[in-house]
Amino acid sequence: MRKILVTSALPYANGSIHLGHLVEYLQTDIWVRNQKMSQNQCFYICADDAHGTPIMLKAKELQMTPEELISKTQKEHMEDFKDFHIEFDNYYTTHSDENRELSELIYEQLKENGNIESREIEQFYDEQENMFLPDRYIKGTCPKCKADDQYGDACEICGATYLSTDLLNPKSVVSNSKPVTRKTEHFFFKLSEYETFLKDWLKDSRVQNEIKNKMDEWLKDGLASWDITRDKPYFGFQIPNEKDKYFYVWLDAPVGYIASFKNLCDKKSIDFMEFWKKDSDTELYHFIGKDIAYFHVLFWPAMLEGSKFRTPSSVFCHGFLTIDGEKMSKSRGTFFNARTYLKHLDPEYLRYYFASRLTDKIEDIDLNFDDFVARVNSDLVGKIVNIGSRCAKFINGSYDSRLCSESYNKQLITEILESKNLIVENYENRNFSKNIRLISSLADDINKYIDNEKPWKMIKDKENKDKVHKVCSDGINMFRLLIGYLKPVIPNIALKVEKVLQCDCINWSNLDSILTSHQMGEFKPVIGRIEKDSIELMKNEAKGEIND
Ligand code: MSP
Ligand code: ZN
Repeated sequence: MRKILVTSALPYANGSIHLGHLVEYLQTDIWVRNQKMSQNQCFYICADDAHGTPIMLKAKELQMTPEELISKTQKEHMEDFKDFHIEFDNYYTTHSDENRELSELIYEQLKENGNIESREIEQFYDEQENMFLPDRYIKGTCPKCKADDQYGDACEICGATYLSTDLLNPKSVVSNSKPVTRKTEHFFFKLSEYETFLKDWLKDSRVQNEIKNKMDEWLKDGLASWDITRDKPYFGFQIPNEKDKYFYVWLDAPVGYIASFKNLCDKKSIDFMEFWKKDSDTELYHFIGKDIAYFHVLFWPAMLEGSKFRTPSSVFCHGFLTIDGEKMSKSRGTFFNARTYLKHLDPEYLRYYFASRLTDKIEDIDLNFDDFVARVNSDLVGKIVNIGSRCAKFINGSYDSRLCSESYNKQLITEILESKNLIVENYENRNFSKNIRLISSLADDINKYIDNEKPWKMIKDKENKDKVHKVCSDGINMFRLLIGYLKPVIPNIALKVEKVLQCDCINWSNLDSILTSHQMGEFKPVIGRIEKDSIELMKNEAKGEIND
């Protein structure tokens, strides 16, 4: 039995979960469910990322304390995940005692190693709000192309990157006043001291080629020291023995993975150190989006190595969601919150659709609504689920809901049984789209078999009663196998099918045999087709949400 710890990136606690986020949480959830079906010990850990300037300012705007904001958001996030059938073993917050202690511990250890240096830097300061301004909170004219209204780190018009202090006519986004520059002492993590370690980690960690190439590039360019300090006012953890200095949110955020697991271990008496000690023989995987690779493949492994924890077995990176080929956009009405979707559509549709698009590559994945309706209605409902309803009709109606004592089309059943190993392997390697294609082509073979035998015709002749029983029992059995193969993707449909068939909870070990002389229940529809209207209604609702 493998022992595996899995994380998804921690969503920020100042906004709602949207369909883009769900690419990641669904990808991870499907992967974890596959492990659990193999009866591996697998823990899926996540938390809200609760610290930082945007959260502090959002709370102020809403006239609440940051603590109130993050606890409200955490509740909302947890509801959204639950309703998409995303099953965490623990969902916590980075604003916790466990995380404070672990972040301090890691920092102290890095300091003791001599990995932390202190330097005076010059930064913009808002004298009206009495705060230092992160780059994103300063706007001004691009020093290169002179475009107005550009952020303090990069120009969206000409692509130039620069220091915020180079902006012409800088303005504070918070108060609109003209910021002054002020000196402040900051602490930096000397990443370059981990260059050799990172090169070795890169070799062992089986990261995707795209990530490997990126890392090679970053390593070649040289590893700059990382500023891990923020000045007061800040919502976060104070740096021990310093006055008015806080850890930058990206220092304590990944530590939140460990802290959330620690919180689970304390509740469930799991051996924490078995998973986190150096040279642990358990596995650790982080699922992330491409925008945060730098943090997860450079800073994070180095922080863990420096503080004598185990390092990640691998980091799995995915691309971004586009809607009908374009970036999600509030103004175009293509920015869909998880809750907006749930009001109109079944979560298993999206799980199935994302699975049909997900690969092990970092390419962006597109949600095209015509394709979405077609894949769900014709493949999932029309092809796969339909096998169950068309065969159950006969088994329920003419055979007291009891299946045959043996299989009839042994060749086809064997073909389907023998696909199992490849399917498990594809899930393991995050080639979900391959599985959806494979399962859909198996469904074609099954439907062809039933179409050829024509039980609805045969049943009219009493002599064929036995044959219809055999063909439809085959159909029900193969339906069970396909639903089992899809169980990581559509867990709720699988649950309904288990109830209808009155069979054991499906896992990989009971998918190598079929049900014989088995008493099933009355068939009930397990999922319906997507109504075109619901998509229009969802789009209209999203358009109405623009002003948030
Ligand atoms: N809080 C950080 C992560 C800290 S992990 C120690 C963060 N939060 S986030 O809410 O912005 O994003 C959470 C995850 O969702 C990230 O992995 C991010 O890449 C992913 N996605 C956010 N928008 C996305 C899309 N539009 N498409 C696909 N994934 C997206 O980053
Ligand atoms: Zn410019």
